[in-house]
Amino acid sequence: MRFVLNGKTVTVRAHPMKRLLDVLREDCRLTGTKEGCGEGECGACTVLVDGQPVNACLVPLAHVRGARVTTVEGLRGRARALQEAFVEEGATQCGFCTPGLLVAASALPAKVTFEEMRASLAGNICRCTGYGAIYRAIEKAGLPRRSRQPAGAGGAAAKAGGAGKAGRGVGSDRGPA
Ligand code: FES
Ligand code: FES
Repeated sequence: MRFVLNGKTVTVRAHPMKRLLDVLREDCRLTGTKEGCGEGECGACTVLVDGQPVNACLVPLAHVRGARVTTVEGLRGRARALQEAFVEEGATQCGFCTPGLLVAASALPAKVTFEEMRASLAGNICRCTGYGAIYRAIEKAGLPRRSRQPAGAGGAAAKAGGAGKAGRGVGSDRGPA
């Protein structure tokens, strides 16, 4: 199976139904992507497939044939600022959620409200930080712009909030998260 991993074309010999999470960690030796729940609930395994965040524990290898897969090891650009801000703000404690959060946050739109950011990251669970430091770090990195939407307003926040912890498989309509 051939796909583009962090900018390089790779060919993996594995069962087409092998989980992308296992392919990345075992076949590609990229262990930055973590397994938490293994069932699409925690976001620890978040990677980008063609620019969209997905839970790698839910995605079979066959679904990424010819696709662009980006793991935390392949993050570039503003993700650098995100990483530095996570350190500066103490947004990492045990660190298990951090790779998935960095990947998900790196895919946020350039202009996103605070509420949209929170809703988009609802699928990334952190058991240590209480989220405040994470949100501060993302803001420090230039995202999002704080603006308050009236309760019940539509738009991306409401849409993403509805998605909540729902699993992010390839082809899901979940926004960046
Ligand atoms: Fe928890 Fe994949 S390991 S969502
Ligand atoms: Fe431990 Fe987030 S820092 S789960």
